[in-house]
Amino acid sequence: MSESAFTPRVFSGIQPTGNLHLGNYLGAMKRFVDMQGADFETIYCMVDLHAVTVWQDPKDLMKSTRELCAGFIAAGIDPEKSILINQSQVPEHAQLAWIFNCVARMGWMQRMTQWKDKAGKNAQNASLGLFAYPALMAADILVYHATHVPVGEDQKQHLELTRDIAIKFNHDYGVDFFPETEPVIEGAATRVMSLRDGSKKMSKSDVSDASRINLTDDADAIAKKIRKAKTDPEALPSEANGLEERPEARNLVNIYAALNEQSVDQVLADVGGKQFSEFKPMLADLAVSKLAPISTEMARLMDNQDEIDRILARGSQRAREITVPILRKTYDIVGMVPPVQL
Ligand code: TYM
Repeated sequence: MSESAFTPRVFSGIQPTGNLHLGNYLGAMKRFVDMQGADFETIYCMVDLHAVTVWQDPKDLMKSTRELCAGFIAAGIDPEKSILINQSQVPEHAQLAWIFNCVARMGWMQRMTQWKDKAGKNAQNASLGLFAYPALMAADILVYHATHVPVGEDQKQHLELTRDIAIKFNHDYGVDFFPETEPVIEGAATRVMSLRDGSKKMSKSDVSDASRINLTDDADAIAKKIRKAKTDPEALPSEANGLEERPEARNLVNIYAALNEQSVDQVLADVGGKQFSEFKPMLADLAVSKLAPISTEMARLMDNQDEIDRILARGSQRAREITVPILRKTYDIVGMVPPVQL
């Protein structure tokens, strides 16, 4: 199927489950802002239905969803240019997910590394929603016929499954209806690692708060976490291949490059030969100068929750102009009798 048959449209989502961290910002949000503009229609989503695949305290979930919306706007998403929604206000996501539950195979879901990691040894006790999680994610994307999905590296397998679902649906029903979406996994920070262990992804579920920089951390906390970040005793190399086998050094250089919108080679041309005692304060200053305005703006926006709720309501209204006809057409293809005028 040629991609040109579809309007260039970007969709991506973030779970409203606690603190946003530097990995979410560099791997996802900053990329969302970069893609907002003339070339694409952009839709960004707080995936509250995905969040409840594991237990969420209702009050915390509501707060985190509004906070995430504030985070999107503070990071540079313009609610006029982009459509900002929380998933549960656009019912077609869950409706299409049901159809995809009937297209996807159990074996496909069982192979998902995120399922294996999250369900762990206690899979029998995991929710059915956690198992079906990737079918809902495919529905999020395909209910807009989205063509491009910016994400961090950890979502790659889910996006491959999204393509598999689109291909199988099109094949089973003999149509050319759903696009084969392109993952957009680009830049120096597609996989930001823990500050305490360069072999582990930076994540909100890590028990150590020192392992991540939260978007709500103040300047002192950011500087302290970077100062304490694990490194090795060598000076920084002048070329990227000198970072091989040095995961912690590579991670800090990647973070610097992504924050400063440079390539790793450009960064190393400047800092090659420096010790970490000199590089870490440079990184801390850069991180504070980029992140502090975001956390200040988030706090300001959170003081006006009514405005956030209006933005989400307006976003869902605009979103449904796209999703209602696509779901209706899907139901027609599948053979569901449509409602008639009474
Ligand atoms: P979530 O909420 O875990 O993460 C949101 C985004 O942040 C990226 N990310 C990272 N990038 C770089 N380094 C890291 N350490 C790091 N940690 C997280 C993730 O790759 C993601 O892009 N299943 C998704 C949410 C989702 C979605 C969608 C995404 C639901 N429906 C449809 C795209 C399209 C998730 O749990 O992301």
